[in-house]
Amino acid sequence: MVKYRELFDLTNKTAIVTGGGVGLGKEIANALSQVGANIVIADIDLKQSKETAQEIKELNGVSTLAIKTDVTNEEDVRLMVDKTVENFGKVDILVNNAGICQKIDAVDQSLEDWKKTMDVNVNGVFLCSKYVALNMMENNGGSIINMSSMSGFIANTESQTAYNASKAAVAHMTKSFASEWVNHNIRVNAIGPGYMKTAMTKPIFEEGGELAHVLDMVPVKRLGEPYELGGAVILLASEASSFTTGSTFIIDGGYTIN
Ligand SMILES: NC(=O)c1ccc[n+]([C@@H]2O[C@H](COP(=O)([O-])OP(=O)(O)OC[C@H]3O[C@@H](n4cnc5c(N)ncnc54)[C@H](O)[C@@H]3O)[C@@H](O)[C@H]2O)c1
Repeated sequence: MVKYRELFDLTNKTAIVTGGGVGLGKEIANALSQVGANIVIADIDLKQSKETAQEIKELNGVSTLAIKTDVTNEEDVRLMVDKTVENFGKVDILVNNAGICQKIDAVDQSLEDWKKTMDVNVNGVFLCSKYVALNMMENNGGSIINMSSMSGFIANTESQTAYNASKAAVAHMTKSFASEWVNHNIRVNAIGPGYMKTAMTKPIFEEGGELAHVLDMVPVKRLGEPYELGGAVILLASEASSFTTGSTFIIDGGYTIN
């Protein structure tokens, strides 16, 4: 009989979580560490990354490391992989979580702002995936999980065309990388969250906030809690999803049902 608990176990695996200092990335790092993975927090904010790495180490008893990484900077990304390999030997799991969202009407958006969103959300995913995949190819594979969004699948109406396009690109890059690297035993999947409750979104969506009306459009009538992504990330990171590659798992309280 297959031992299902063992399939989800990530003991002695090493996971890099980009943008893991706060928000969804921090909770994803917490989830992966609770099933045994050592954690690298790779965030542009080193102070916050160090705090999060220390907190996860103390709470969950795994080894952690904070590395200052701007995912748009190729040299930073190379160093992210090199330092992870120096400390842990190899990279088993990459969560491409770092991302930004600017709410600007397309007609008011400067080309510079458009490029900024694409740089972090698309080019950052490309760079981190490329350099981690090169390491995974030397070590018999691994799992890459990209942070797309339900906004990559619907034209989310809140003046965020650049964001929507960037997250659609992430979903498609997920399929393309999955196809290119399948023979190296590298699986590439994505999650596509709906509206999640983070420090940033909570005040906007809660009663009296500028987007409070949007909650009426979510079938479950609430924001998602960050921990509600954790189970899917553990699944995609682990052998429990060994037949899954190129997929995006939408987790949105039903928003995109219709
Ligand atoms: N919050 C939501 O409702 C929601 C929904 C769908 C998808 N997402 C996606 O989930 C991811 C995380 O969202 P969040 O709400 O936790 O965001 P957040 O703003 O709370 O956290 C983002 C983290 O990324 C880091 N970061 C930003 N730019 C970076 C860069 N260039 N290099 C490295 N790190 C960088 C920040 O320092 C921060 O720690 C993003 O990709 C976002 O698009 C969020």
